[in-house]
Amino acid sequence: MKIVTIVGARPQFIKAATVSRIVKNYPDIREIIIHTGQHYDNNMSDIFFTELGIPQPDVNLGVGSGSHGAQTAHMLEGIEKILMAEKPEWLMVYGDTNSTIAGALAAAKLNIPIAHVEAGLRSFNRTMPEEINRIATDHVSNVLFAPTQNAMNLLASEGLTDKAIFTGDVMYDSILYYSKMAAEKCSLSKITDIEAGGYYLATVHRQENTDNLHNLQSIFRAFSELDKPVILPLHPRTRKLIEKIKYSSNIRIIDPVGYLEMITLLSNSHKVLTDSGGLQKEAFFMKKPCVTLREETEWIETLEDNWNFVVGTNYEKILGKIAITQFGDQKNMFGDGHAAEKIVESLLR
Ligand code: UD1
Ligand code: UDP
Repeated sequence: MKIVTIVGARPQFIKAATVSRIVKNYPDIREIIIHTGQHYDNNMSDIFFTELGIPQPDVNLGVGSGSHGAQTAHMLEGIEKILMAEKPEWLMVYGDTNSTIAGALAAAKLNIPIAHVEAGLRSFNRTMPEEINRIATDHVSNVLFAPTQNAMNLLASEGLTDKAIFTGDVMYDSILYYSKMAAEKCSLSKITDIEAGGYYLATVHRQENTDNLHNLQSIFRAFSELDKPVILPLHPRTRKLIEKIKYSSNIRIIDPVGYLEMITLLSNSHKVLTDSGGLQKEAFFMKKPCVTLREETEWIETLEDNWNFVVGTNYEKILGKIAITQFGDQKNMFGDGHAAEKIVESLLR
């Protein structure tokens, strides 16, 4: 069986690493990995392939940055050519980026069956580019691998039950597997001189925050006034804007880090502040309280028992919710850590 996998953005390398590792155990499957080139800086792309042992992409389309339409169009053209030549049994896409929708559309037009990993997520905010990508991808896909029961319910509400399979979350698989590697290979002191527990970990890159300087300033004002330093591995999109923002030395800006470094930073942090989808969940998996710098979240499971608060960008709300200290027990809603096996077995069936 031949599978073409599309990746392009940082979180997709982390998800694909886990599924591709399982795929390698099946000699009957040949996986062709296409990197769209959506992310291209060393610390946004190559570092993940090297550190996580992902097979190097068979093709890198080198599409790079651009407006949504231009970026997606270039990917679509490049992916279509490869699909026409390779004629795979399956096209596999992850998540909700422009690389996801480009892969799904290219395959749909060629009648190549599409498998969508992390299907059934919704923010119900259609101004968010990712929301359009996920809805369109779910509706053109042939099999929908849902990470949670909430995702299964959302797919049912859109009439997609017949195509949906609950697998659990591949990011949960990823963190279980790579936490052990991070503990062996990556010490906190190599990343920062701040003691374990003595800092907040933060990330900011979401379009609604970076394209709105008022929101970004409010976030940086809150970070500046927190009671502990904030380690902020900064996405290049946000890095380009920080000259326009006022902030204090409480914010320790560093370059984006590899996944093992990120796990080390997370596991040693006090709490997390982020607008990232993936990091919200990882904070939950590692029992680190989180404040989400958005107006909504797709990962509503994480909101239970005070583990995550959706606060938007209001400075007072950020400072108020990060100070909460009472947390309940967690229920496991993200599967059994074997989502990738379930995905591969189901494709073979
Ligand atoms: C994309 C995804 C988002 C995901 C994020 C993960 C879409 C619509 N958005 O957002 O869902 O959460 O990836 O990180 O697909 N840039 C660089 N170097 C890079 C990559 C980007 O400098 O290696 C800069 C460029 O200025 C670029 C900007 O970041 O224009 C945004 O990059 P892009 O891939 O378009 O979107 P992300 O914000 O990364
Ligand atoms: N991440 C990383 N290095 C960083 C920042 C994030 O490895 O400097 C990881 C993070 O742990 C998570 C994933 O990247 O696994 C999340 O990606 P991102 O926030 O870029 O995208 P999102 O999940 O919001 O789509």
